[in-house]
Formats: sequence, C-alpha cells, structure tokens
Amino acid sequence: MRIGSPKEIFKGENRVAMTPDSAKHLQKLGYECIIETGAGNNSNFSDKDYKEAGVKIAKTKEQLWKESDIILKVRAPEKSEFSTVKLGQLIISFIWPGQNKALLDSLSKKKVTVQAMDMIPRISRAQKMDALSSMANIAGYRAVIEAGNQFGRFFTGQITAAGKVPPAKILVIGAGVAGLAAIGTAQSMGAIVRAFDVRPEVAEQIESMGAEFLMLDFDSDGTGEGGYAKPASKEFIKKEMELFRAQAPEIDIVITTALIPGMPAPKLWPAEMVDLMKPGSVIVDLAAEQGGNCDVTVPNKMIETKNKVKVIGYTDLPSRMATQSSNLYSTNTRHMIDDLTPEKNGIPYVNMEDDVIRGATVLHKGEITFPPPKPKIVAIAKHTNEKVKEKTPEEINKEKIEAEKKSGRLQAMLLIIGACLTWYIGMYAPPEFMQHFIVFILSCFVGYQVIWNVAHSLHTPLMAVTNAISSIIILGALLQMKTDNDIVSILALVSIFIATINIVGGFMVTKRMLAMFQRS
Ligand code: NAI
Repeated sequence: MRIGSPKEIFKGENRVAMTPDSAKHLQKLGYECIIETGAGNNSNFSDKDYKEAGVKIAKTKEQLWKESDIILKVRAPEKSEFSTVKLGQLIISFIWPGQNKALLDSLSKKKVTVQAMDMIPRISRAQKMDALSSMANIAGYRAVIEAGNQFGRFFTGQITAAGKVPPAKILVIGAGVAGLAAIGTAQSMGAIVRAFDVRPEVAEQIESMGAEFLMLDFDSDGTGEGGYAKPASKEFIKKEMELFRAQAPEIDIVITTALIPGMPAPKLWPAEMVDLMKPGSVIVDLAAEQGGNCDVTVPNKMIETKNKVKVIGYTDLPSRMATQSSNLYSTNTRHMIDDLTPEKNGIPYVNMEDDVIRGATVLHKGEITFPPPKPKIVAIAKHTNEKVKEKTPEEINKEKIEAEKKSGRLQAMLLIIGACLTWYIGMYAPPEFMQHFIVFILSCFVGYQVIWNVAHSLHTPLMAVTNAISSIIILGALLQMKTDNDIVSILALVSIFIATINIVGGFMVTKRMLAMFQRS
C-alpha cells in the first residue's frame, strides 16, 4: 500500500508528517511512499531529499490524495480537503475529536478509518508514539526562547566591570511535559526557576532539575486519571492565588502550562497578577489555545499591557521549530504505523483489541468509535497516594549499629582463623617464605579494605592508583622471568597477564567515563 503526506494547508503550519528519514523506515515496513511537492520545504526537507529516500513526488494535492491509501498529516483535514478524501482511506493525524465532532461526522460519510495522534493513551508501550508529549516538549523549550527574545536582560546573573546583573527569575506554572521542558531550558540558561503544580508528585522531578518547587500549605492531591490533573477545588485555587500574588512582583518571566484534559484551561494568572508585575516582565501562556491561563492572553498574538508586561499567546510554538517537530512527529507516526503493520507486509491491520490502536481510532470504516473505552492497561503515570513508611532516625541508627556489630564479629572471626593458619604454616615453612607470605597477606588485606571502602564515584581515580601498582607488578615479574625455575617464570607470566588486564581495562573504563561527559 502507499502512504502519502500532503502539504499542510493550515496558515502558518510549517511541519510535515513524513520526513525522508521516516519514509525510509516506512518502506522497510513494506509500504511505498509519496509526498506532495514542496511539503517539506518549510521544515528544510527538499523534494530532492525525498526522492533520494525513494519517495515519489506528487505534483498536485489531488494526485497525492488519489494515489495514497494511507494519509499522514499533522493538522486535522480541513473542509477544503474533504473532496480529496478517498473512500476507505486510513488517515493518521492530530484530530482533537472532542472539539471536532463535525469533522468526524463529515469523514464518516467517506467510510474512512481515522487515527488521532492526540488520542494515543499515555501508557508506557505507547510512549514512542506520544506525539502530544513530543510537541509539548518542543513548546516548553520554545516558550523559554520566545520569552528570552522579549526579555531585556540576561537569564544568568553576571558580575562584570560594568556592574552586577541579577539572574532572571522564572516561574513555571504546571509541570507536565511542556512545563518540565521549560524548567530544564530556563535552568540551563542560568535563570532562577520556581515551579508549581497541583500534582505533588512532580515536586521531586522539579527539584531534581535544580528548580524550586513552591509548596502550598494545603492538604489535597490534584492527581487525576492517567497522570493528568483533576480540577482543583475553589479553596485550593484561592490558596494558589495567594501564592502567586506573593511571587508576581518578584518574578521576571511567567510560563503557564496548566491544563486539565477536556476542559478549558484554568485561569491562574488574572489581570490583577499582571498588574503586580514589573515593567519589562514577560508572560508566555502555552494554554492560549484552550482559553489561556492568563486573563489578558490573546491567542496567536503578543500584546503589551499598560504596565509594559509582554504577554505571548502563540499557539504554534512547535511549528516555529519545524525541522525538529517534523522529525519527532514523523518518528511518532512511523512507530504508530509499525504497530499497525505486525506482518511488516505493507498492509495495515487496525486491531481494535489493542489498547493503543483502539484508543487512537476515532473512526473505523466510517463508524465513529470516539470516545474509546478505558485502556485495559494502567496508565504509565498511575500515581498512588500511599507513601512508603519512612524510618525514624532512631530506627536508622539502631540498624546501623546492628550492622556494624555483625561485620565486627565476622572480621574478628576471620582474623583469628587467619592467625591460626599463619601460625600453623610458620611451624613448617622456611623463615624467608614466611616473611614474603606475611607481606602478601597484609597487602591482600589492605587492598581489600581500600577497594571496599572507596565510594563508587571514586573508582576511576582509584583505578589510576591500581594502574601504578600494576606497573610495579609488571616490572617485578619481568625481573623474575629470567630465573631457571619454571614455576617462578610461569607465575611471573601470569602476573604480567593479570596486571595487563588491569591496566588496559582501567584505560577502557576511564575512556568510557570521559566519553559520558563529552558533547558530540
Ligand atoms: P500536561 O497535561 O502534561 O500538563 C499540564 C500540567 O498542568 C499538569 O502537570 C497539571 O498537573 C498542571 N495543572 C493543572 N491545573 C493546575 C493548576 N491549577 N495549578 C498548577 N498546575 C496545574 O500538558 P502538556 O502536554 O505539558 O501541555 C501543557 C500545555 O501546553 C497545554 O495547554 C498544551 O495544550 C500546551 N501546548 C501548547 C503549544 C503551543 O504551541 N502553544 C504546543 C504544545 C502544547
């Protein structure tokens, strides 16, 4: 069968659903690929790139739709495209079926099967197809870049001959995929980042990224189903407002990403909060498309308030990074097609028993199958409120003392056995042997203690020291090689061999560790 990608017709949409790279993968699944001429231009993929990847170029939109059995798109088909939809086609695209009932009705007349990339359930197996997360990740990153573009200062603090520059203070509201990406980006650019979310379990993720989680003194958990948030109570929102009111005069940039699935975005940054901000501050409202988290947001626009606060309501942030977004989106869709083609024979099989495929299928051979039943598998982010019972400091101390006592007893026993054995050997062995033997036993003991008590993180420097020791062993063994005694020669050879393994292995491990810190 043939998979085709038309040029997106939505104004300002720069993404493309098939890249030359994803086309190669699709061909390995047994499909032929076709793309409308110029479809990849805005994402920096030329017709030539596609041709080289074995993709046929369709000269017109009509030819593309006509020659394709499966259509891969970014934006939901628009009215003007309906006439080109073929009977029984399979369409894979963002659809937003909850908000697009009329679209489903129109498409159902064409007996098509439609898979909505925005309906992929958030379960572990489906992460590779999770286009919402890929796009939100890009949006979070881009939100920081857009904010930086409008903000008149550095993000990072600096002390220069010309004066001291304080670091920018950034508040991120909502730490889902987009929020966490924004936190990571702002943090890496040197800003002081604070974040808030109704789901308390994200506190750890926020803190692990080096940002500060703003705690709310309120006993409630905003975690809903599937790791998403549930609507917060009026009392909670009131407390949240108090928290933000205290932050507003201090914060330079606010990035709001708060969203409850299937609902308009909660209003969390009202006009009164905007008034409290300093002139030159910036607000980026990622939820602009769902009504916005900020009262004054105008979707798709950047406005400046009377007190000189810039409010950005762009809804096309992934499209502003079209090459990156197209690469990620096309990877998500090709994984989807991979799952749809279990036989790898270029024929899709819409298995309605499969949780992921069922969740994404909103139209099956013309029959509306939205909303899907709840997935049989538990969502990835199934969070429980149960906390592991933490041990008290007394209990921890007691356990430590017990463990020390146990290891002390074992060591004493081993020492006694060792001393008895040495005494027994000493009764019969010649004195020169005993001298070397005792040095050997002591070095084994010291070596063991050194390695056992060194923290893992210090094993690389330790390796350097053992390399030095291994070199001494090799030198000693080389000197012994000349002897007439075969046993000594063999032992020397074995020592050289083992010490060489230690030295070469040490270098290899060090090289791998250093590579981990190198940026390619
Ligand atoms: P998500 O559902 O993973 O995250 C939303 C977060 O908001 C959740 O962590 C939730 O707990 C939190 N939240 C809900 N109510 C809250 C409240 N009252 N206070 C604080 N936090 C609250 O969503 P995701 O994927 O991270 O997307 C975030 C937003 O970005 C969405 O509105 C999405 O539509 C939007 N987006 C915008 C784009 C653009 O171009 N502007 C592109 C991609 C996504």
